Amino acid sequence: MKVRKKPIEVFSQWAESGRDQGMEKNHREAVDAMLAYALDKPAPFSFIDAGCGNGWVVRQVSENPACQSAIGVDGSQKMIAKAQTMDPQNSYVATDLLQWSPKETVSLVHSMEVFYYLQNPQEIITHIYKNWLAHGGRLIIGLDFYYENKVSHTWPEDCGISIMTLLPKSDWLAFFDQAGFQNTLSWQVGAKQDWAGTLIVTGTK
Ligand SMILES: C[S@@+](CC[C@H](N)C(=O)[O-])C[C@H]1O[C@@H](n2cnc3c(N)ncnc32)[C@H](O)[C@@H]1O
Repeated sequence: MKVRKKPIEVFSQWAESGRDQGMEKNHREAVDAMLAYALDKPAPFSFIDAGCGNGWVVRQVSENPACQSAIGVDGSQKMIAKAQTMDPQNSYVATDLLQWSPKETVSLVHSMEVFYYLQNPQEIITHIYKNWLAHGGRLIIGLDFYYENKVSHTWPEDCGISIMTLLPKSDWLAFFDQAGFQNTLSWQVGAKQDWAGTLIVTGTK
């Protein structure tokens, strides 16, 4: 069995080797579906991408004329350095998600392929509910690593990552409900053959 590294260590290596660009390509279909759902009205909004990687979603969202502010947060200094080099306009913060809160709460928090890298994902969902979101605000997350997506079960071994928390859809929905979210719902995007699709979970405060 190969030695497993912490998620931030692995993603810093990915930033150095250019593998972050592959995430942009592979995650785009699901992210576009999440943003289309969350930004279905032309109302002004403020945005945080939790676990933003190289910042590609922040750059994309900030081009929306209704976007008042866009912040990217990631635990990898190397990912954040890349994001800042490509985009000096928006704000990027290198920090653990559980250790940070915005100065002002926002209307939309988005996160793609991040929360299962935490030992206890309930903690980050509750933290965002309490400390990041304004009343009426929305959290929307996308996950490819979950119990019903059987082909993903080997990823911790394949990628050599020490923390990857494998949970069924029902647990993710329960985390949202237990944090206090309302109108919680989930669906899957891009399912085909043995791929169950990206699990999207969302709710409002
Ligand atoms: C699979 S990548 C996804 C990046 C980006 N969302 C995308 O779709 O391209 C996961 C990201 O989450 C970050 N991450 C993982 N655990 C974190 C934590 N506890 N705090 C902050 N960032 C974290 C990693 O550094 C990495 O950039």
